[in-house]
Amino acid sequence: MRVRKIKDLSKKLIDYQHLLIEDPKEIKKRFDEKPLELEIGFGKGDFLIAMAKKYPERNFLGIERSGDFTLKAMRDVGELKNILFMTGNIQEIIPLMEENLFSGLYLNFSDPWPKARHFKRRLTYRVLLMSYQRILKKASIVQLKTDSRELFEFSLQQVKALGKTPFDVTEDLHNDPLWSENIATHYEIKFSTKGKKILGFRYRS
Ligand SMILES: C[S@@+](CC[C@H](N)C(=O)[O-])C[C@H]1O[C@@H](n2cnc3c(N)ncnc32)[C@H](O)[C@@H]1O
Repeated sequence: MRVRKIKDLSKKLIDYQHLLIEDPKEIKKRFDEKPLELEIGFGKGDFLIAMAKKYPERNFLGIERSGDFTLKAMRDVGELKNILFMTGNIQEIIPLMEENLFSGLYLNFSDPWPKARHFKRRLTYRVLLMSYQRILKKASIVQLKTDSRELFEFSLQQVKALGKTPFDVTEDLHNDPLWSENIATHYEIKFSTKGKKILGFRYRS
């Protein structure tokens, strides 16, 4: 079964088919043996592309709901050979994926869904965290960054409810030595330029 396609996306992406995975079952065979890390909701892709440049010994998969953003990111990949993309809703894609695929997961500035009644849409809702467990290798690092205190507190609570222990918890990521290797995302630069503190934590799957 294939993930539903965004209208006309394949036409626009025709020059970039080599960077696109359409069938979740093909993820493993599209990469070589290097450890594979995942970013969900990569937006314009700056973070993932910078990670792929910085860590050539790893592979990277980005999944993004917006076809336009996916196209933008693909245009910026250049000669990199360790990065591929999927477009679609992570909630629809995950059930179609094999188990134990990823050695790391990045959730950067996920939509906060501030209305309490929308908590199930947050990418750190416990049921989604449980679905990440299936696709992550044991003890992989999951990393979250956000400017939203509500999402931060909610996510910490959901991770603890999953029985996992958050670490490197920070309420000022840009001034925290534990995060000195940080690569800033598009949203991160936007929010921190406006004076907002960046919050974050990690946990092991
Ligand atoms: C606020 S933006 C952050 C973008 C980027 N991570 C950054 O920090 O600049 C959130 C992104 O997540 C994507 N997104 C939200 N829900 C998603 C889902 N269920 N599956 C895939 N992508 C999703 C949105 O399309 C959007 O591009």
